[in-house]
Amino acid sequence: MVHLGPKRPQHRKGTFTDVPEQWMEQLHEIENLLTVSAETLRTITTHFVSELEKGLSKAGGNIPMIPAWVMDTPTGKETGDYLAIDLGGTNLRVVLVRLAGDCTFDTTQSKFALPESFRTGSADQLFDFIADSLAKFVEEQYPEGCSEPLPLGFTFSYPCSQSKINSGILQRWTKGFDIDNVEGHDVVPMLQASIKKVGVPIDVVALINDTTGTLVASMYTDPEAKMGLIFGTGCNGAYYDVVGDIPKLEGKFPSDIPATSLMAINCEYGAFDNEHAVLPRTKYDVQIDAESPRPGQQSFEKMISGYYLGEVLRLVLLDLAEEKGLFFKGQDLSKLHKPFIMDTSFPAHIEDDPFENLSDVQELFDTVLGIQVTLPERKVIRRLAELIGERSARLSVCGIAAICKKRNYKKAHCAADGSVYNKYPQFKERAAKALRDIFEWTEDEDPVVIIPAEDGSGVGAAVIAALTEKRLANGLSVGLE
Ligand code: BGC
Repeated sequence: MVHLGPKRPQHRKGTFTDVPEQWMEQLHEIENLLTVSAETLRTITTHFVSELEKGLSKAGGNIPMIPAWVMDTPTGKETGDYLAIDLGGTNLRVVLVRLAGDCTFDTTQSKFALPESFRTGSADQLFDFIADSLAKFVEEQYPEGCSEPLPLGFTFSYPCSQSKINSGILQRWTKGFDIDNVEGHDVVPMLQASIKKVGVPIDVVALINDTTGTLVASMYTDPEAKMGLIFGTGCNGAYYDVVGDIPKLEGKFPSDIPATSLMAINCEYGAFDNEHAVLPRTKYDVQIDAESPRPGQQSFEKMISGYYLGEVLRLVLLDLAEEKGLFFKGQDLSKLHKPFIMDTSFPAHIEDDPFENLSDVQELFDTVLGIQVTLPERKVIRRLAELIGERSARLSVCGIAAICKKRNYKKAHCAADGSVYNKYPQFKERAAKALRDIFEWTEDEDPVVIIPAEDGSGVGAAVIAALTEKRLANGLSVGLE
């Protein structure tokens, strides 16, 4: 169920009385730019459904719709010890998962901070770092050594084309990663080669997207789970589709995979609307895209995901300060000029400020940007943060609604994870409201609910590795022949 927290009081009449008229005009303009009506959400969703279809078609489309070669759904009876790793934006997480076989599991995990420079360093540096961290973890967990190679589920949350479960050719980096000589290559042998260097017996059984992991982990404990979603640094969703409804693989499936069987699809719908047909992009979104390492890619993600929300706010503030000459008069704005200086926690903290005089906002601006903000400025800034957060939540659910429409789900548990979903104030409530707007439900209906996911990159990766081992043991295919 969506957990509804206490409702934030609406702006009381008079909140903006000390805000100059000219500022209010600007604020209204920005409100118009960033507000997404119910009607627009419905138009976007309709287009989204056709784009999901297009991604599965022979001709293909913007949304990659990657068959993930996870063809079984978990029963909860899977057992065994599995290693899982998850390369996030700031950390590498290594997990040992013990599947108990009764829908329960045990996890032990360590986190290794990924040095910032590695995001744009070399491929060897990245994969050696992963292998070294794995070696440290395995030494701790198995001080006596291990007799058999440990099966590993590798959660790699970037778009990879997969012709089988234990391979994935990186299509392109997202979320600010930019490492040469990885795009266009299979990342599994790269990892396996680095693991060989550290001499630890590990077998990479499955390459998994975080959304597929989230989906499978949640199904392990909740049979109603229909999709796995990440609303975090990036955004994406996975669901199961019918093999016979994947025209782009028609005639290519191995004979033991009937047209009626199911296949997890990693949508990679952060790429939705790369052709800019329906999303209400603002000049700020256009600028973020133009200045990103991959212009023209991940259009949807760049408007809604955590990597970009602080950046949208920064550009709006610069506009108000320099273009419009309204804000931060006479202050040193050099820090505000630094791209990505404000991560998502910045607008999140602004919205969370509990004080009437928004003193937390002042403290934040002073500490991070060296800017003193007047009370009227703080009030406008708070409103901007609300608008950015609300736009993100509302647009985010178009992917959910589109999958429901495509699969004709009238009821669904949509398992979600990620920093924006878990930590961004009001995200859950706003997302639930936006779903109601799209489907025109009343408040007490909510047949499609967003629920907190099980740990996809740990448990999900482990369950997928277990399902894969079982298929292999039964002589079933795990990819194209
Ligand atoms: C990646 C996806 C991933 C999503 C959430 C996107 O940038 O392309 O593979 O699932 O972020 O982590």
